[in-house]
Amino acid sequence: MKKENYLRLVDELWRHNRLYYIENQPEISDEVFDQLLKKLESIEKEHPDWITPDSPTQRVMEALVGNFPVIQHAKPMLSLPNTYSREEVEAFIERVKKGLGKGSHDFCCEIKMDGVAFTARYEKGRFVLGATRGNGKEGDEITHNLRMIQNLPIQLHSDDLPDLLEVRGEVYMPKKAFERLNAEKKREGEPLWANPRNAASGSLKLLDPKEVAKRGLEVGFYSVLPHPKIPCKTQGEVQAWLKKIGFPTLPFVEVAATTDAIFAHIERIEKERPLLPFEIDGVVIKLNSLQDQEELGAAGKNPRWAVAYKFHAEQAKSRILDIRVNVGRTGVLTPVADLEPVFLAGSTIARASLHNREEIERLDVRIGDEVLIEKGGDVIPKVVEVVSHAEGGHPWVPPTHCPSCGTEIVELPEEVAIRCPNIEGCPEQRFRRLLFFVSKQGLDIDGLGEKVMEKLIQLGFVKEPADVFALTREQIGQIEGFKEKSVQNLLNAISAAKNAPFSRILHALGIRHVGIATAEAIAQKWKDFDSLFRLEMGDYFAVEGVGEKVAETLFAYFSHPKNQIEIRRLITNGLNLQERVLIENPFFKGKSFVITGTLSMPREQMADLLQSRGGKVSESLSKKTDFLILGENAGSKLDKAKRFGVSILTEQEILNKI
Ligand code: IVH
Repeated sequence: MKKENYLRLVDELWRHNRLYYIENQPEISDEVFDQLLKKLESIEKEHPDWITPDSPTQRVMEALVGNFPVIQHAKPMLSLPNTYSREEVEAFIERVKKGLGKGSHDFCCEIKMDGVAFTARYEKGRFVLGATRGNGKEGDEITHNLRMIQNLPIQLHSDDLPDLLEVRGEVYMPKKAFERLNAEKKREGEPLWANPRNAASGSLKLLDPKEVAKRGLEVGFYSVLPHPKIPCKTQGEVQAWLKKIGFPTLPFVEVAATTDAIFAHIERIEKERPLLPFEIDGVVIKLNSLQDQEELGAAGKNPRWAVAYKFHAEQAKSRILDIRVNVGRTGVLTPVADLEPVFLAGSTIARASLHNREEIERLDVRIGDEVLIEKGGDVIPKVVEVVSHAEGGHPWVPPTHCPSCGTEIVELPEEVAIRCPNIEGCPEQRFRRLLFFVSKQGLDIDGLGEKVMEKLIQLGFVKEPADVFALTREQIGQIEGFKEKSVQNLLNAISAAKNAPFSRILHALGIRHVGIATAEAIAQKWKDFDSLFRLEMGDYFAVEGVGEKVAETLFAYFSHPKNQIEIRRLITNGLNLQERVLIENPFFKGKSFVITGTLSMPREQMADLLQSRGGKVSESLSKKTDFLILGENAGSKLDKAKRFGVSILTEQEILNKI
């Protein structure tokens, strides 16, 4: 194992963490995430000297978003270690026994709701404060949004309540509400939520509680902070007490004393799972005695007295109606199965990826077969195995020609993929590249999704990237559903993208093998496209990490007259193409900045100004932040900065320093 591979894994885990918590668009399942984390732990065991303070094993995964006031939790909100097998659960029970040093113990089994943990404070029976788990120590205060949830009690009507009561549970989105929400999103051409958990989490972060009310969220409670007036000695009693007081609780609670009894319960729940009106992703097994829980305590962010037994991804049977290929932006052809529509984990599935020819051969899947499908990471469904071959079912024959442009397909010996070599002329490749150009990974032009781009192409307004920058108010106004405000928003987003640094534009072009790191390295060396047009293939070797293959691709791309013309048009249409030039300024060098509120310029522009002088810009404020830059209508970051003693500067003060 090389250290750089270890560091890459650290980065990868943080990326997935961000996708999960901040963007609510996970790419991998919890199971795969846990596997990666375990791999990291085992590498760190072997090479303790490599561990950085930044490793996901050393830090609680941050999940604060920054739009809400932050509050400290009265008691940390822990997370649960995941287990996936009977052996792992047995090992947990052994650890409990060893820790307590006495006989047998009861365990309280509960469903693991696939939602978002929250805490709620009640004063004299009245709901007064609610917050997300956040990073476990502090969370976002979302009282107003929680108030909108129809089954969350606003006033409790029970006599023997403590004056101050704090209860915890899960906010979730029932399957029906999730389907309705996604159907609406689909109609509007917006990206869909990956699963109900992400939809619930995203809904809680809405700034308008009235919108939250429309989302159909629900809550279920499962714990209470100890108080002398609460007469519970076990977790089972907590569940019963919560219910008696008037809280919605979780169904299927069962106290079990043996592994057999625990697994009998797990099996029952797993059978019920597809019929439940909400998503669950496992069973939580908690030591029943509250006193024993207290005695065992926690190890870091995990309690020693509870584990989650996670179900494997939900599966369903379907039939393969046909196998087609999708053409990607680099010409790779991905086989995709058309399925008999089937309902699975919150949505109707009619397509599944088959990855590549090797995978089809491995599965031995043929058209007409009955297959088992599952949602990998609850996002993209995939075919897991063939249940039965269809009589007369026929094997898939890879196409010999591209379905989009008809060009003969090539198969490179060093790749599993087959591809359409018609990079310049293939309409589908061009469309995918255009989409990439404006996507989050590209220039991140908000409002230009797949549907809108399709429409703009259909109307004849966009054929190549440069056309995006020439779009007029009248043209955008012709897109169905675009009113004055959305037209203006899109125009603003397009105009902001004109200031993207050279490296970003280089990456957005979607040249094969050119990731953002390579694009940055190239942009540091050559400052504009004209310089690139003049290069020989060998010149590219001067860039770190560029080998024969990449150099060849880059050379072919930039020496192609058609590409040169397209790029020149980008510049005539207003792209600024300024790579950041470092202007040394001791005030900014090495300092970290966070921006809050609205500035007179787009935030990206301020960030560029700071970075070009050696400063670092971060989204989230911490004790380590050096300066908070204050715009109008500043949010919760201002309070936090004051609490942390972070220096606060106005936009003008910063501009004076510059
Ligand atoms: S107990 C000390 N019980 O799972 C453990 N959590 O990974 C604290 N969850 O953040 C949580 N159902 O969002 C507990 N019956 C249940 C649960 C449950 C779902 C979630 C919760 C928590 C996460 C822990």
